[in-house]
Amino acid sequence: MSGIDSILTETRVFPPSDEFRINANISGMDAYNTLCEQAASDYEGFWGKQAKENITWFKPFTKVLNESNAPFYKWFEDGELNVSYNCIDRHLPLLANKLAIIFESDNGTVTRITYMELYRRVCQFANGLKSMGITRGDRVVIYMPMSIEAVVAMQACARIGAIHSVVFGGFSGKSLQERIIDAKARVVVTANEGVRGGKLVPLKSVVDEALDGGGCECVERVIVFKRAVHEDAPWTIGRDVWWHDFIKGKPEHCEPTPVNAEDPLFILYTSGSTGKPKGVQHSSAGYLLGAINTMRWTFDYKPSDIFWCTADVGWITGHTYVGYGPLAVGATQVIFEGVPTYPDAGRFWKMIEQHRVSVFYTAPTAIRSLIKLGADIPEQYDLSSLRLLGTVGEPINPEAWMWYYEKVGGGRCPIADTWWQTETGSHMLAPMPGAVPTKPGSCTLPLPGIMADIVDEAGFPVEAGKGGFLVIKRPFPSQVRTLWNDPERFKKSYFPEEYNNKYYLAGDSAHRDEQGYFWIMGRIDDVLNVSGHRLGTMEIESALVANPLVAEAAVVGKPHEIKGESVVAFVVLKGPRPSGEEAKKITANLREWVGSEIGALAKPDEIRYGDNLPKTRSGKIMRRLLRAVAKGEEITQDISTLENPTILKQLQETL
Ligand code: WT7
Repeated sequence: MSGIDSILTETRVFPPSDEFRINANISGMDAYNTLCEQAASDYEGFWGKQAKENITWFKPFTKVLNESNAPFYKWFEDGELNVSYNCIDRHLPLLANKLAIIFESDNGTVTRITYMELYRRVCQFANGLKSMGITRGDRVVIYMPMSIEAVVAMQACARIGAIHSVVFGGFSGKSLQERIIDAKARVVVTANEGVRGGKLVPLKSVVDEALDGGGCECVERVIVFKRAVHEDAPWTIGRDVWWHDFIKGKPEHCEPTPVNAEDPLFILYTSGSTGKPKGVQHSSAGYLLGAINTMRWTFDYKPSDIFWCTADVGWITGHTYVGYGPLAVGATQVIFEGVPTYPDAGRFWKMIEQHRVSVFYTAPTAIRSLIKLGADIPEQYDLSSLRLLGTVGEPINPEAWMWYYEKVGGGRCPIADTWWQTETGSHMLAPMPGAVPTKPGSCTLPLPGIMADIVDEAGFPVEAGKGGFLVIKRPFPSQVRTLWNDPERFKKSYFPEEYNNKYYLAGDSAHRDEQGYFWIMGRIDDVLNVSGHRLGTMEIESALVANPLVAEAAVVGKPHEIKGESVVAFVVLKGPRPSGEEAKKITANLREWVGSEIGALAKPDEIRYGDNLPKTRSGKIMRRLLRAVAKGEEITQDISTLENPTILKQLQETL
């Protein structure tokens, strides 16, 4: 409540300083407006020019956009390129000795590698994959800690035209198994362990659990990077191979395989409102173009920058702004293995000071948790290298925005609040920081060529101040191409009939102010945003119902100070409704259960038990009521259509 209210009344405006504006890639509102006008007057001409100038093509494209099989759009379809070549090789003539990656491990050890060294490592690993017969179009699942090797593995796949699917290291064996099966992966790349916040994270044993779960006969090899203290790992002879053995003796040169612009670069699974996770499939050229453009536009990339995106490579943010974007523009970037609060809440600031980070990109949930641990901690560090700050993942509350702006940015760094999604591949709504004045809590305006709008149920634009559905009215190069194995679901999820299958429906509600600034209000579907991570309520419900004790479950979100939203589950057991100690015990068990079914991030923060759930006479669970119950709000809705109104009382009791 408070978040949305304060956003609605926010009136502060922060234009870039003269110094920032004068030096910016896109300098001043006129420059921004000119780009937008170019896109509006000649859409294909605009994107064609961007693609020609920013991507090195092996074979130039002659056609920009093909809409004949909408919504399965094709961009630059007769062009050929290689994404890894664009991220590494093309920089070597001038930047071979420039640092590509500054890697800092959990305990603070720093490893620096140049573009030349990155080239060698990527080529060696690519040659390893090639020698086992992995070729263009094959799928490789990557289940890795944050590391140089995770990026090497992604780039090596791109180099030979294989399609990677990175699975976040916090997902359970079950979730990993499901993704391996859906992608029919031939290889899984992992590490024996990860290290986060001083704790070991067992990765290889989770991979084994996934593969032992059945259905993964497609996997021929598991490549295991030796990260942590243990010298050995659970091992299957013939299938498992250490990373260092896998690359031993492999040549440090590997010709990049030319692929078609529309060849899938990767699949990344994300939660939807119903059913199993969606395999979001991205293209090679269009995706790469989005990554490059937004590095220059939103992050105002300069060759002297030290760029740091704190996201894990298991999420889209870590794909676009760790795995591809920074490399594609030849940047030096920091990659961090650990967590913001270890060994203390000054970790981020200490790293910014030590590595002289100039562009820093993180999530509101991290900012909020660091404020809570000590609002003055940043003062203890020299943050003068910073010139630009970014946020992503959820709406940022104006208080957190102001803290970030003043305490971290010293009042001199523009804040780029970037709205986008796994499906959009790169930023959609975000300030060009040398042009667009920012407002705390708003992701500001669409980037050039992004035809975003807010419409009502019938597809008509809503007036300023009114809420509506966020849509993108024209296809754009970096958008999702389809859902892996499920083109029907792709159409249904994103291109609804109500909008003649033409508008891309993002799934967020938003409104615009008098200046046309976008303010994101939240999801319109049954998707939760927990610490900037997307979770489907249905997914958590299915996990709960799969437990032998559970008869029925409904999951809703509830506002949470740090996480944005927390997970509240309403559960009906097969046995009698538990109370007291017994209820506590069952809750602990069910939390663990969800952790092992999906992953720790999906564990319900709260579970309430009832003899039943509030349902309509036709048997539909009334989630709106449950949301009110979870928030502890008085029920003002009409409950006369409820089959069992008395049940609400029960559910309102907390443990
Ligand atoms: C959903 C997408 C894109 C990377 C991170 C999440 C929410 C994302 C913002 C923002 C308000 C935001 C939306 C969106 N979201 N960025 N700057 N302001 N909301 O990717 O898991 O695909 O989730 O995250 O609800 O639909 P994702």
